Amino acid sequence: MRVLVTGGAGFIGSHLSDRLLAEGHQVTVLDDLSNGRPANLAGAVTSDRFRFVELDVTGPELAAAVADAQPEVIFHLAAQVDVRASVADPLHDAKVNVLGTIAVLEAARAAGTRKVLFASSVAIYGPTTDLPVAETAPTNPLSPYASSKLTGETYLRQYRQLHGVDFTALAFGNVYGPRQDPHGEAGVVAIFAGALTSGGPTKVFGEGGNTRDYIYVGDIVDALVKASAEAGGGQRFNLGTGVETSDLELHRIVAKAAGVDQEPEFAPARPGDLAAMVLDSSAAHAELGWRPATDLTEGVANVVAWARERASVS
Ligand SMILES: NC(=O)c1ccc[n+]([C@@H]2O[C@H](COP(=O)([O-])OP(=O)(O)OC[C@H]3O[C@@H](n4cnc5c(N)ncnc54)[C@H](O)[C@@H]3O)[C@@H](O)[C@H]2O)c1
Repeated sequence: MRVLVTGGAGFIGSHLSDRLLAEGHQVTVLDDLSNGRPANLAGAVTSDRFRFVELDVTGPELAAAVADAQPEVIFHLAAQVDVRASVADPLHDAKVNVLGTIAVLEAARAAGTRKVLFASSVAIYGPTTDLPVAETAPTNPLSPYASSKLTGETYLRQYRQLHGVDFTALAFGNVYGPRQDPHGEAGVVAIFAGALTSGGPTKVFGEGGNTRDYIYVGDIVDALVKASAEAGGGQRFNLGTGVETSDLELHRIVAKAAGVDQEPEFAPARPGDLAAMVLDSSAAHAELGWRPATDLTEGVANVVAWARERASVS
């Protein structure tokens, strides 16, 4: 089928594009390269079923580009992804994440697209002690980024009702894997792997006891592909492993994979950081037939191998 991936030069979008090409689809990637990298698409560009269009999803050329691609399915991953940047500049965050999503939906409607898959986030739930978090949990977005993701979901619902453009929203836990930027604020696996393979210092915040649900990028891609069929229309599914991992445990796992015996430095706890998060993904299992296949030790080993390879070529 013809598919379009917004944000396809980024971390998750490039893995998704590789998988879609491997399955024989015609893939168009739209990305403004604000955070994505052409190198992520080095494999994809070798396929004659692949097309890359450098474009801002909030810009005036979007509708024509989508009309040209005529996608049956759109994977909408393009976003301003940095929570702290969203606090510093909420207008920019809303422009990309809210107006960009509306623009993609408008273009989808005009092009007769069957379904839009939306990259939502665990951040929409906010702090809670009622763990693991299921889709029925109340939402409490505490950052402009989280608000923009939740607002995006509202528009998806509206477009389904008003115009019959189907959607599935997928609320990702903490995604990690090769190609994740080790220099950003998020992506602690990438940050630890980058530092621990190059002799750099590492730090954890507070006592290192904060927990997260780390989910491997290949498993996220698998869920996106499964949700692109008819199942799960009009719904949100949480995507996590159901396993809580503390910052200190994660540090130990990455250090072991890197073959170093290094302890992290301790920095003061950051205000606003969630103490604990873990997702209940049983709905995705029941309705999409999805289950994560990669455990943290295996996934971290892939990231460490990638970090080493990247260091050797740069
Ligand atoms: N990585 C995670 O842990 C995580 C967790 C929850 C949700 N998500 C969501 O998954 C999606 C992909 O995230 P990622 O981690 O791959 O981040 P990423 O930054 O690597 O990918 C996002 C891509 O969108 C592109 N982009 C940004 N603004 C754009 C615009 N205006 N027009 C066109 N392209 C634009 C960037 O250049 C980048 O390539 C995002 O929507 C993000 O919010 C990620």
